[in-house]
Amino acid sequence: MAELKTNRFFHGGDYNPEQWLEYPEILEEDIRLMKEAKITMVSVGIFSWAFLEPEEGRYEFGWLDKIIDRLTEAGIDIDLATPSGARPAWLAEKYPEVLRYDKNFQPYHYGQRHNHCLTSPLYRQKVQAMDSALAKHYAGHPGIKLIHISNEFCGYCYCPKCAQGFREWLQRKYGSLAELNRCWWADFWSQRYSSWSQIEPPSPMGMFDNPSMALDWKRFETEQVRSFIEMERKAVHEYMPEVPVTINLMDRFNEYDLFTLSSAVDVVSWDAYPRWGAGDDLSTAIAFAMEHDMMRSFKNQPFLLMESTPSLVNWHPVNKLKRPGMHMLASLQAVAHGSQSVMMFQWRKGRGGAEAFHGAVVSHDGRDDTRVFRDVRQVGAALENLAPVLDARPDAKVCLIFDYENWWALDEVQAALRGNMRYFDTVLLFYRAFREKGISVDFRNMSPDLDLSAYQLVIAPLLFMFRNGIEEKLKAFTAAGGTLLTTFFSGQVNEFDLAYLGDAPHGLTDVLGLRAEELDSLYPDQSNELVMTGGQRLTVHELCEIPRDVSAECVGTYARDFYSGLPCLTKNAYGKGTAWYLAAKQDQAGVNAVLEKITEGMDLPQAFPGPLPEGVLATARGEYVFLQNFSGSEQHISFPGKMTDLISGREFEGEYTMPVNGILVLKQG
Ligand code: GLA
Ligand code: ZN
Repeated sequence: MAELKTNRFFHGGDYNPEQWLEYPEILEEDIRLMKEAKITMVSVGIFSWAFLEPEEGRYEFGWLDKIIDRLTEAGIDIDLATPSGARPAWLAEKYPEVLRYDKNFQPYHYGQRHNHCLTSPLYRQKVQAMDSALAKHYAGHPGIKLIHISNEFCGYCYCPKCAQGFREWLQRKYGSLAELNRCWWADFWSQRYSSWSQIEPPSPMGMFDNPSMALDWKRFETEQVRSFIEMERKAVHEYMPEVPVTINLMDRFNEYDLFTLSSAVDVVSWDAYPRWGAGDDLSTAIAFAMEHDMMRSFKNQPFLLMESTPSLVNWHPVNKLKRPGMHMLASLQAVAHGSQSVMMFQWRKGRGGAEAFHGAVVSHDGRDDTRVFRDVRQVGAALENLAPVLDARPDAKVCLIFDYENWWALDEVQAALRGNMRYFDTVLLFYRAFREKGISVDFRNMSPDLDLSAYQLVIAPLLFMFRNGIEEKLKAFTAAGGTLLTTFFSGQVNEFDLAYLGDAPHGLTDVLGLRAEELDSLYPDQSNELVMTGGQRLTVHELCEIPRDVSAECVGTYARDFYSGLPCLTKNAYGKGTAWYLAAKQDQAGVNAVLEKITEGMDLPQAFPGPLPEGVLATARGEYVFLQNFSGSEQHISFPGKMTDLISGREFEGEYTMPVNGILVLKQG
């Protein structure tokens, strides 16, 4: 793997200079404005294929050479993209096989972007040739610090080639149809296949009600994207092996397994577009904090914020401006969680096309004295002062198990709250409790090489699927002295989505000291209560599991219904550790109270040494503490000792009133 090395934060964004080739004065002015805005990196070439290869096999780099050289002379680093996110019209016209098919098995026409068939050997060959020519041409260029493969991989293709690819992938996986039929439980509804050719991708036009098949389809699609990335990475690394490669991921995205895709790149990056001002900024901030931490966790190393907007987007239903201070606050939030960059979409607003009114650093007026331009410049200046933070790393003692295959299985589950299992939001409840206390959290999936030894507390919420022997790892972690929390509807199915035979949660009944017998689902206006042994009453709703044969210590019971009095929260000593089990879904206040109980006496490092008002988050990155006011109002902070803010150089001690959207990056002393 090529390593990302930098002694300054990358600050910049998507440039898309091909829009301005007929405006040389603008391209000239851009360099001046970038220096002014303290831009240190721009991405070029993301959607430039029609300019890089205007006709099949005729490559033109001259126009880009000039731009890249001028940027490099100006001290601005280059993130060079491969252009495979949007293909030129000639390619689609000449080779219709590169066009994607939708889930009704209909081919798309030319247009849009991000909609190719990634299986098509011809598309792969064309992309590879383009990438090789690009990399060969720019090999050794001192300005190129990063390679950006394609753009926001997304979606599935249902063309005949993909269907055939799926069949071949299944053949390699299962070896025989008998094995496939067995693992897909295909004897039910006479779904057994007697020939590979009978298998089609899950689609509303065909087979879509076998969850085992749906899981395999998402694994196959992940594999197609992974191997596509690998192909592109190889093509560029043949000529520039020292330059790290990235792909830009998206938020709440689960079409592919992002742990798997991340393993194919040198550095993870992502595009974050929170809806600030849509209501409760604190909740928005915490959800994005979780995703920043996920990005850091995918490779357990620093990541990059590849895109964000300096002001507004054009694709939310309501495109609201960032309020004063929010650009700084949101940008540095990414840095707090381990980002080495603050990058934006895009540098300058185009005159036309789909995104002419999307926020940009430079607007149609071309001015450098706008509110947005000043905000961006301020972030650039702050990032210069934050250089010492580059080498600092967040350090977590708490691990949340988050697994894409489990997410898929829950999305497909034909039970409980069908189609509304809310896995991401369930994990977020637990994450939030820690985030609000300034406690760092890592995310790990159920990979075969999962190692939990660095953690004091492991939480595996709603882990419906157990795969790769996760139960053995959780058991060993607890036996060795760790604290484990697992919840309702866990350990139900294996990696094929086949229910485990025997007591649930599979393999953990002795660790937990109980078995989970039944799962009750409640209608939205219904609830129950968890009554803690001390008398505290906490709301539970949505999902209530009924445990039996409980030998564990009961810490709280159900208050109502036919399972009133049965345990809802239990604690079991196992080996040198403790295993907790939470039987029901809670609201945030309930999760906070339960985690308070579980972490009693545990010494989990908190980012800020004193108490914090609601809405102010503290995030530690090594020895630095990011204090962020997302409350929407001024907040009073009391500093227990002397601390220095790296952004302003100012020293703090005693009382301080934090402004709306305020942020400090503090160091002790
Ligand atoms: C995505 C894309 C960009 C642009 C932005 C707009 O993140 O990668 O090309 O369309 O959205 O917000
Ligand atoms: Zn296809």
